[in-house]
Amino acid sequence: MFGSVIRVLAAAVLLCSAGSVVAAADHKPITLEASQDLYKKHVVPFIAKHCASCHGTEKKPKADLVLATLDPDMKVSSSAGRWALVLDQVVMDEMPPDDKPRPTKAEVEAVVAWIKAEMKRSGKNLERREQVRNGNSVPHRLLFDPKSAAAFDAASRVRRLSPEIYEAFMRDVGKGVNGLGQPFSPVGYTTFADMGSPKIDEPITALLINNALAIVKKQTAFKIESGEFKKIGFVPREFEALIDPGNEPTDEQIHAAIRTQFEKVVKRKPTDEEAGRFLSLMRQNIKDAGRVTGVRYTLAAVFLLPEVVFRSEVGDGKPDALGRVRLAPRELAFALNYALSDRQPPSWLLDEAAKGKLDTNEGVAATVKRMLDDPKFTKPRILRFFREYFEYGKATEVFKDAKAFNGHDARTLIADADRLVEHVLEQDRQVLFELLTTRKAFVAYRTAEDTKKKRIEARKKFEEQKKKDPKKYANKTLKLPGRSIYESYGLDDFPDKQPTDLPGDQRAGLLTHPAWLVAFSKADENDVIHRGKWVRERLLGGVVPDVPITVDAQLPNEPHHTLRKRMRVTEETYCWQCHQYMNRVGYPFESYDHFGRFRKTETILDPEATAKNVDKKGKQLGPVMREVEANAKGGIEFVPDKSLEGDVDGAVAYVEKLAKSEYVEQVFIRHAFRYWMGRNESLGDAKSLQAIHNTYNESDGSMKALIVAMLTSDSFLYRVPSGN
Ligand code: HEC
Ligand code: HEC
Repeated sequence: MFGSVIRVLAAAVLLCSAGSVVAAADHKPITLEASQDLYKKHVVPFIAKHCASCHGTEKKPKADLVLATLDPDMKVSSSAGRWALVLDQVVMDEMPPDDKPRPTKAEVEAVVAWIKAEMKRSGKNLERREQVRNGNSVPHRLLFDPKSAAAFDAASRVRRLSPEIYEAFMRDVGKGVNGLGQPFSPVGYTTFADMGSPKIDEPITALLINNALAIVKKQTAFKIESGEFKKIGFVPREFEALIDPGNEPTDEQIHAAIRTQFEKVVKRKPTDEEAGRFLSLMRQNIKDAGRVTGVRYTLAAVFLLPEVVFRSEVGDGKPDALGRVRLAPRELAFALNYALSDRQPPSWLLDEAAKGKLDTNEGVAATVKRMLDDPKFTKPRILRFFREYFEYGKATEVFKDAKAFNGHDARTLIADADRLVEHVLEQDRQVLFELLTTRKAFVAYRTAEDTKKKRIEARKKFEEQKKKDPKKYANKTLKLPGRSIYESYGLDDFPDKQPTDLPGDQRAGLLTHPAWLVAFSKADENDVIHRGKWVRERLLGGVVPDVPITVDAQLPNEPHHTLRKRMRVTEETYCWQCHQYMNRVGYPFESYDHFGRFRKTETILDPEATAKNVDKKGKQLGPVMREVEANAKGGIEFVPDKSLEGDVDGAVAYVEKLAKSEYVEQVFIRHAFRYWMGRNESLGDAKSLQAIHNTYNESDGSMKALIVAMLTSDSFLYRVPSGN
């Protein structure tokens, strides 16, 4: 019997998704014949005209790449990888080289369309790699060129809910229900990972069903006491009528219960079609599985409607002159809501959508402002953006030996960094610049006051005891309660005021914050390479190819050498082609040790002194260290903003230089764009990006203004229907 009910449930899922948005987002792959026709029609002449002079068979082909003989059937050959390179080069406008005549837009589009179609047909999903891997590979110059004329191409789509949204949904709708499982793990550090594909596989479905049944069980909990029906806890009246054995449910009562469940779960009434479908499902389930089970499974089926796990951004109405449709009002309400919040949209927002308030950009802007200003509307996604962008939350993942420095407390450092971001957001002026250069810091802001008091008391008590019994306490030292977290910041004690000012020659902004420095460190040393990679990608908008699997990515184990000396292995010609993008932009943070403490010297092993460090019997007494001058010299190269180029020495001057660059600001905006759009930017987003950047400038660097501009941009509001 159980099996048959599950079948009913599964049927409900299929039923519910049939003809829905999920189907709309699915293109059908083309056939091999169609693919080959396109290849002959568009690609062969393109290569002959623009590429064959260098990638032909006559002379020594450039990059050992012969394009004319590259197999156009990506399924049977290993050519897909090379076609992916061609796609990259052509999309990025890198090939043919600058001094050659440019292919027309139509030529490029036809080639790109064919490569993508053939990849899809052959199942070589390199297109996705290209997309998700790196938004930075879209040429910056074209995105911020006011003359940029690429067609708007934000495709209609269906997105799966983020783990955070589903988590909040379970908290709200499944309040007090135990044993609910998170189907979309992991929560947190999903760096720009909202871009995931909208696939729901079997294990996920099983969890969704379990959660639904657990919640419904609680929604319909009851007992029979001396023949009397008694509900347990909060059971909606409409559900009571269905499970009370003393009542024979009418169609009206079933409708009412289904309506209630729809409003709880998907925040809307069922359509007439759905009402009818769920009524007959309920009748059938009751017949198959008995009253209570039948009712429960049918109410649970509401949790399996596609919109519980998917967000559709398909739009409605006729396409405009540019071939775009605006998101439907309800889609837009959800999109705006989830741009800032994890919880289901408040009813006022859905009301505004229904009343047509979101039909104009002014209306959308007013609504976003209302959300931003409403303290009751929680907006965790704003802070989360900064966490994902800077990634300082990873500090807890780096193991540190407490014996080496017992003031270290990664959790506290992260909370301090969060608070600093919030503080800068509260001021809301030149937000990026401030985040990169502020001298302010919160120092164990949650516990500092308390710890200080406890320490004063402990000192007092110690002194008193010492007075009473001087002999006993003569050789005792006082052990202070709490950790000396302030030492991470280079202070002598917890500050009296929060935020406090840090020495301006030592610290400037989040990249010199101990949380960030620890997040980008190893257990017992700095991590120049990953710091450099972060700067290269997140501030300089660059691309570093993935480390090849054939490389043994390890520095030599030479504790008697400085980190810089050990990094020499990455300067071999082969390694340097990638490491030139990371190493020099990572070195300036050598101003700090791996706990994030400011330093002037680096500690290395002294082998001779260690060899001599023996007791009378010649037994080794342990390593002896020595200090050498810390070298924080680095430099910036390979950036379009030439004013940034040149040597730098030390982190403070370095981040100040970066913070002043308009180019860096634009790269930051590109990342914000990715986060809030849940996809990488494309050339078709140039207008939106420029509008957002202008607003940010004109509003004196206000994050609120930036968010309003983002959520009222064409890229947010419009979609090009699939098939166009
Ligand atoms: C004037 C000569 C010239 C023309 C024309 C030319 N290329 Fe190239 N191509 C090169 C050279 C040189 C390299 C290797 C050095 C480099 O990457 O810049 C290269 C490298 C490549 C690579 C390999 C890149 C990598 O990362 O390994 C691809 C792919 C490529 N070209 C595609 C094309 C395509 C497609 C066209 C036509 C649209 C084209 N090239 C036209 C000279 C040319
Ligand atoms: C194609 C690009 C590329 C090449 C070539 C390359 N690397 Fe790397 N390397 C990277 C990237 C990217 C990272 C950062 C890896 C990551 O994201 O974890 C890295 C990281 C490293 C690390 C740090 C690993 C860690 O765990 O922190 C070392 C050490 C290293 N590379 C050494 C080398 C050496 C030695 C060579 C040459 C033999 C080399 N790499 C060649 C791209 C490259």
